[in-house]
Amino acid sequence: MERELALEFVRVTEAAALAAGRLMGRGDKEAADQAAVDAMRSVFDTVYVDGTVVIGEGEMDEAPMLYIGEKVGIGKEPSVDIAVDPLEGTNLVAKGLPNALSVVAVAPRGCLLHAPDIYMNKIAVGPQAKGCIDLDASVTENLKAVAAALHKDVQDVTAIILERPRHAAIIEEIRAAGARVKLISDGDVSAAIATALPNTGVDILFGIGGAPEGVIAAAALKCLGGEIQARLVPDGEEELARVRQMGLSDPYKMLTLEDMVRGDDVFFAATGITDGDMLRGVRYRGQTAETHSLVMRGITGTIRNIDAIHLLSRKPHYVARQPRDC
Ligand code: FBP
Repeated sequence: MERELALEFVRVTEAAALAAGRLMGRGDKEAADQAAVDAMRSVFDTVYVDGTVVIGEGEMDEAPMLYIGEKVGIGKEPSVDIAVDPLEGTNLVAKGLPNALSVVAVAPRGCLLHAPDIYMNKIAVGPQAKGCIDLDASVTENLKAVAAALHKDVQDVTAIILERPRHAAIIEEIRAAGARVKLISDGDVSAAIATALPNTGVDILFGIGGAPEGVIAAAALKCLGGEIQARLVPDGEEELARVRQMGLSDPYKMLTLEDMVRGDDVFFAATGITDGDMLRGVRYRGQTAETHSLVMRGITGTIRNIDAIHLLSRKPHYVARQPRDC
């Protein structure tokens, strides 16, 4: 994939962020998600790729846009697989909480795992602790290994995890080991990425979240030189069948980063919707709006921070202005 595509993918996430950010704090996560989907879909039509959505808003019969299998892009080479999450953290936007993002990951056709929308158990770290984690080892063993890799004591290691009842035992074990814990209400894509970025203060991600989010996080970690290991958690026969349909003969296989994102030719782009650890949220300033994005390319490992100012009067319908009271 040509490096120039990086900016095209940022345009896609910027559009979704500009649209969803308008609805911050309105308590309506469906409306915010829809705004992000509509905007992302329309900008994809301007991108010079022959894209197929492999991770998206759901199956064709349940999602009118950005559904799995949908063709996006102008339709010219390169042929690519696309994983999208126009609004990662729907509740975060609905409540005006930090770390909501719009994200896209793109790789040559056949290089992204076609993960069904079920749960996935994940463990992720940044480049310094790469090679030290093991999804099948205990939480304590992983914390010790990461502490050694980072040349610090376990009590100085910070683990991040979704605050869910299903994680009670993991959280208890992290605390018993003496490590620090950051509990988050939503958004394990940004949490996984935080393990690989400097100055976030986060060292390791544990826990079960969405499988699509796992593959998107894997694309980012590939670019950042970090590591993620994962295992799908199918619930019942119907989900097991879906896993097999997606081409995974062993539904319980431990998935490595390479299993989720094959090769280094991968792009990851994200734009902040609400303020977060790595990205600022959208700022609306009357005639203009400002976005903050990150775009990464696996082949070179280049990470670009992009601050953009958008003149709203020249934007298409997806940044519709809010009606005024007077
Ligand atoms: P949405 O953007 O679809 O609301 O997902 C947010 C999220 O927190 C993900 O980051 C995470 O992987 C998943 O939901 C966890 O699922 P659950 O809320 O069912 O525990």
